[in-house]
Amino acid sequence: MMKQVVWIYYLWVWWSTSICVEARNDSLKAGERLDANSTLCSKHGRYCLLFQDTVNSEDNYNYLVIVSKRNFSDRGSEIWMYDRNQPIDISSAVLSLNKSGVLKIEFQYRKEIIIYSSPQPINNTVATMLDTGNFVLEQLHPNGTKSLLWQSFDYPSYTLVPMMKLGVNRKTGHNWSLVSWLTHSLPTLGEFSLEWEPKEGELNIKKHGKVYWKSGKLGNNRLFDNIPANVQQNYQYVIISNNDEDSFSFEIKDRNYKMSPEWSISSTGRLSSSEGELGNADVCYGYNSDRGCQKWEDIPTCRKPGEVFERKMGRPNTDYAFFQDNVSYVYNDCKLSCWRNCGCHGFRKYYGNGTGCIFYSWNSTQDVDWEDDFKFYILKKPTKSAPSHHAPIGDDKVVRQTIV
Ligand SMILES: *[C@@H]1O[C@H](CO)[C@@H](O)[C@H](O)[C@H]1NC(C)=O
Ligand SMILES: *[C@@H]1O[C@H](CO)[C@@H](O)[C@H](O)[C@H]1NC(C)=O
Ligand SMILES: *[C@@H]1O[C@H](CO)[C@@H](O)[C@H](O)[C@H]1NC(C)=O
Ligand SMILES: *[C@@H]1O[C@H](CO)[C@@H](O)[C@H](O)[C@H]1NC(C)=O
Ligand SMILES: *[C@@H]1O[C@H](CO)[C@@H](O)[C@H](O)[C@H]1NC(C)=O
Ligand SMILES: *[C@@H]1O[C@H](CO)[C@@H](O)[C@H](O)[C@H]1NC(C)=O
Ligand SMILES: *[C@@H]1O[C@H](CO)[C@@H](O)[C@H](O)[C@H]1NC(C)=O
Ligand SMILES: *[C@@H]1O[C@H](CO)[C@@H](O)[C@H](O)[C@H]1NC(C)=O
Ligand SMILES: *[C@@H]1O[C@H](CO)[C@@H](O)[C@H](O)[C@H]1NC(C)=O
Ligand SMILES: *[C@@H]1O[C@H](CO)[C@@H](O)[C@H](O)[C@H]1NC(C)=O
Repeated sequence: MMKQVVWIYYLWVWWSTSICVEARNDSLKAGERLDANSTLCSKHGRYCLLFQDTVNSEDNYNYLVIVSKRNFSDRGSEIWMYDRNQPIDISSAVLSLNKSGVLKIEFQYRKEIIIYSSPQPINNTVATMLDTGNFVLEQLHPNGTKSLLWQSFDYPSYTLVPMMKLGVNRKTGHNWSLVSWLTHSLPTLGEFSLEWEPKEGELNIKKHGKVYWKSGKLGNNRLFDNIPANVQQNYQYVIISNNDEDSFSFEIKDRNYKMSPEWSISSTGRLSSSEGELGNADVCYGYNSDRGCQKWEDIPTCRKPGEVFERKMGRPNTDYAFFQDNVSYVYNDCKLSCWRNCGCHGFRKYYGNGTGCIFYSWNSTQDVDWEDDFKFYILKKPTKSAPSHHAPIGDDKVVRQTIV
């Protein structure tokens, strides 16, 4: 009997503390800490800050992340990660804001990681998870006003949420852009970026600085030319150009909007939202200019316009394959190498984490074990119809959610 009461008491404590942390504690005051078992959620629970292992990741890639949630039981999808090139061991990680205003991640056995530190100690600070998805560090002044010291919106990952900017802050010279994951399972900085080009007034998808895709300019209808109208009809674009900044951001027109309002760029260069595809660098082969694609080279003599790589499941014969074990090659590099090489007829990744390439000759793709569920890509002859009709391919990490 006693045992049961104690057990129920523990359950109650566990329940009440977890609800309390989830529902009411949206800020970290100077001197407070957030450990790997706690979560800092915005007032209405829309966004939460926590230490988490990343979804899709093969190895243990743990980060301090912000997730967008539909409800409290939803694990949420990550919209932000702190320093993707620096995965951390979350078992001993603690986020702390100390009394001198330093925001940092501390560990038991490792050097701390400083997120923000001012040249002079700042007495009275608070870090708050806002319902916009922005995590802000502010200084509280004795007269009741606040000033912003640091914000997560200044360090976009691969997802854009309403009011988060792309472009450049002219006062600080700081650029805001999205950068894709390296591969489907590696969150580290990848090859594709989404940037705002203020001179042209266009969004660009670039690979290592080379423009693959452009949104086109905003028409009189306030929509981008190269983005399908139905995919962008819910957004109100906000473009700012003055001495302080040149930026692009979007807002949701409809207050009753039920989708997750996030734009994400995938490791294959596909930009998408819950409504569908906004742009896709994966359909750009260098010679074609449909769907916003930019030209950077001629079509190889052995390829026909409209020919594309198509995704298949099976294991081609490796007797006639050749390999690239350099881990700096990922999906798009393998694809372009294969496209340019007339002896290549298909490809796939070499390592499990998506790096390296296996290139298949025509002979290997003639001898496929269809029982195997290896994902590979094979050249498909152009269909007679429009050359602009490409099969969607690639490892897309797409955020598709509906808010209930
Ligand atoms: C907020 O959370 C922090 C860290 O989990 C905790 O130390 C602090 O006491 C909480 N504050 C309130 C007011 O609940
Ligand atoms: C988090 O929870 C686990 C399991 O309940 C526990 O072993 C661990 O010590 C906790 N970590 C911290 C920092 O409280
Ligand atoms: C909460 O989110 C989870 C995960 O996405 C979903 O399965 C569940 O149906 C949602 N619950 C409610 C009450 O909406
Ligand atoms: C806050 O952290 C910084 C960096 O680790 C450290 O130099 C400073 O002494 C700390 N301040 C306090 C009051 O602990
Ligand atoms: C910081 O706070 C302490 C105690 O509240 C106060 O004595 C000191 O003057 C403050 N320092 C600054 C720079 O405001
Ligand atoms: C409040 O105090 C801060 C810092 O002392 C100052 O920069 C700011 O102008 C003050 N604001 C008002 C409205 O007095
Ligand atoms: C910001 O982007 C511009 C042009 O895109 C580039 O010239 C500049 O070096 C970038 N600045 C930083 C700090 O990365
Ligand atoms: C791997 O490829 C990169 C980029 O093409 C190149 O810079 C690097 O030297 C290569 N590494 C090896 C070991 O071949
Ligand atoms: C991917 O896997 C290969 C082979 O296991 C490894 O050498 C490489 O370091 C991995 N890449 C990353 C970024 O973990
Ligand atoms: C590949 O197939 C062609 C016929 O299409 C044949 O002539 C050639 O010998 C084959 N190559 C190998 C290495 O078997």
